[in-house]
Amino acid sequence: MSPYGVWVKSTHLELKEGPYYEQGVKCQTCHMTQAEGVSADVGNKYPDVWQHLFHGAHDPGKVKGTIELRIHPDIREAEPLEVIRFTVALFNQKTGHKFPTGSAEERLVWLHVEATDAKGRTYHLPVDRKGFEGEDFTIAANTLAYQDMGIPLNLPDFKGIQRDGVPEGDRIFRLPYLDPQGRMTIMQWNTASQGPDYRIGPRETKLETYTWSLPDALEPGPMRVTASLYYQKLPLPIVEFLGVPKEEAEAIEVNHHTTLLTILP
Ligand code: HEC
Repeated sequence: MSPYGVWVKSTHLELKEGPYYEQGVKCQTCHMTQAEGVSADVGNKYPDVWQHLFHGAHDPGKVKGTIELRIHPDIREAEPLEVIRFTVALFNQKTGHKFPTGSAEERLVWLHVEATDAKGRTYHLPVDRKGFEGEDFTIAANTLAYQDMGIPLNLPDFKGIQRDGVPEGDRIFRLPYLDPQGRMTIMQWNTASQGPDYRIGPRETKLETYTWSLPDALEPGPMRVTASLYYQKLPLPIVEFLGVPKEEAEAIEVNHHTTLLTILP
């Protein structure tokens, strides 16, 4: 808990609230899986030895496929200047807690949607707003945050750094930690409150929509639209600012899905 009484690490609470807890699924079920083997070099063979895998966020194989996603359009054939609406469904099929969890103040999960026309030109689609309170924290923007890093750095006038470092308009699944002034922070001790918890719960499905007025210049022929979900341990602007190893900002692709449409002349 932070000095302001906010739970800054709540993975265990997320499991308790979710569907797995009542079914007797524990942390070990997924993080120390059981297999046939020996528990010591000279020990007996058991059918269910707990494997000390402890694989979490630092293992891309654990993160990959955590969310299953599908993108589909409301119409399959359209002419330039028509309006198409895409729906992306994201189903959390793998975690017992929310995704992302743990050091949630540092984790970034974002959904990027891009169309490629028959000429190979690409168009980035921004997510539709839903209109909930604090939604701005969940849509990538060119805005500053983390101004309270000026406290340990002894820079009282610190303006902050770029908040997200991912393409503007992409949906971000996160739990914003806020300082006493309501600005995003990665410092647990300075967390006075939290923004909207827009993470994907265990076995939850979230829907995102993308309404797109097709540009006039779109090339007739097949058009591909791909939704990709990425996971990052620490936002790139913070990694660059603090000078920590670049791997901390490596974007792991959680999943992607592509749909095909026809653009009529
Ligand atoms: C149903 C399977 C399942 C259960 C139960 C489960 N986890 Fe996880 N956990 C995962 C998966 C999959 C990931 C990788 C995706 C991610 O980072 O969330 C993960 C990741 C994590 C991470 C890394 C998160 C990060 O971003 O740093 C931590 C820490 C963690 N789990 C702790 C726990 C704890 C503590 C419990 C019990 C309260 C628990 N897990 C229960 C499946 C599970």
